[in-house]
Amino acid sequence: MAKQKDILVGRKIIVGVTGGIAAYKTAMVVSTLVQRGAEVRVVMTESATRFVTPLTFQTLTRQMVYTDMWQPAEKFQSAHISLADWGEACLVAPATANLIGKLAGGLADDLLSTTLLAIDLPVIIAPAMNTRMWNKLVVQNNVALLVDLGYRFVGPEAGRLACGTVGEGRMSEPEELVAAVENLLEDADAGKCLPAGRAPSDKPPPLSKRGRLA
Ligand SMILES: Cc1cc2nc3c(=O)[nH]c(=O)nc-3n(C[C@H](O)[C@H](O)[C@H](O)COP(=O)(O)O)c2cc1C
Repeated sequence: MAKQKDILVGRKIIVGVTGGIAAYKTAMVVSTLVQRGAEVRVVMTESATRFVTPLTFQTLTRQMVYTDMWQPAEKFQSAHISLADWGEACLVAPATANLIGKLAGGLADDLLSTTLLAIDLPVIIAPAMNTRMWNKLVVQNNVALLVDLGYRFVGPEAGRLACGTVGEGRMSEPEELVAAVENLLEDADAGKCLPAGRAPSDKPPPLSKRGRLA
């Protein structure tokens, strides 16, 4: 029987990385996506670059890493717009309390938060934070709002946290995040997945219409 093509081959995935210690695990996620044939573009917040260097993701993806909203635009188009036109799906891992709060509030003060508002794509969010932060009502309200708006959450898991405590807040493991991307692409291909943050009446734009980065 002919082997089925890996769903990740040739797929264009935007990976957002924010400022938490779990950012090192995202390197494994990106490495797996690339090895399985996906094209990956990484957007890092300034805080994220304190945990993992852009060079790590640049080397894994063999692409420039986006860190600065004010870096020279490619072909007269700002990075957040060209990424929005390029990608098919987005994964934010780890997602800090700060990023989740900004997205829930519609704030856009850096390249990643601006890109998240500019894209019309299905989005997976993989939170990671201290248990007390995760349990704060304001964080839970933000998560509930984003779930209602169609953002897919994976994790966090319970376990030992980098701060030495045990509880809920660990980012899901790389294999689980890769599986979440596969599921999302399967659903998107089957027309069962709306871009995050859109009204339910909206029709998903055909992925085939999406082009290359400007
Ligand atoms: C050592 C260290 C670890 C941190 N880990 C987390 C974390 O896991 N989750 C989180 O929400 N914030 C964490 N923070 C706080 C964020 O880095 C901080 O809120 C930052 O403003 C987030 O910026 P960003 O969302 O733009 O990446 C940590 C801070 C430090 C110094």
